[in-house]
Amino acid sequence: IISVILSALIAYLWGSIPTGYWMGKILRGKDFDIRDHGSKKIGATNVQRTLGNGPAAIVFLVDLSKGVGPTLLALLVPALNAGGWGPPIAGILALLGHCYPVFIGFKGGRGVLTGGGALLVISPTIFLICLIVTAGTIILSRYVSLGSVLGSACTIICGITFLLISQGNPHFFAHVTIQQLLFLIFSPALVIIFHADNIKRLLSGTERKLGQKVDTTP
Ligand code: G3P
Repeated sequence: IISVILSALIAYLWGSIPTGYWMGKILRGKDFDIRDHGSKKIGATNVQRTLGNGPAAIVFLVDLSKGVGPTLLALLVPALNAGGWGPPIAGILALLGHCYPVFIGFKGGRGVLTGGGALLVISPTIFLICLIVTAGTIILSRYVSLGSVLGSACTIICGITFLLISQGNPHFFAHVTIQQLLFLIFSPALVIIFHADNIKRLLSGTERKLGQKVDTTP
């Protein structure tokens, strides 16, 4: 139990690093808060539409690594592994850190990249399948949020299906354990819930497309 708490704490603080928020401060000065612009989130998508491609690429990589780092640590360090429960709990807490960052008043992003980084560590095969679904949707529709929601739904479907296959076939190449399933259901479900306002905009036809810039002049 101590190792689960430790894993969770490290992951939450790591995930809380507000990359997109700091990027706004660095590029536009201390009075600029990215949460006043565009979708009001600190994720790479909103950084792209408010600050441009270069800053978004940096935020993309750092936010992805915020999921990879703590989950990998919990996987590899025996004191944090907790019989396989450490990595999924670290992944979920890193995602929650990104969405509710302790350093900036608990208002962050939607957890797609941080959750995606954790997924890469927990199941590279499911990551690859869901990456294809997400990237394919974004390329075809130009809606990042739609890609994120469908990729999340795909994670849940793959998680449950692969667990069932794994139970009858221990040598299944994309073996899923019950510990991993905790992450594979809980994290994407959170990501979908955090997209509630995007889903409303998608349904009303008012969602912003990728590359649609916003004016940030005061
Ligand atoms: O990663 C979040 C993305 O799916 C949507 O972001 O800023 O358009 O709400 P945003």
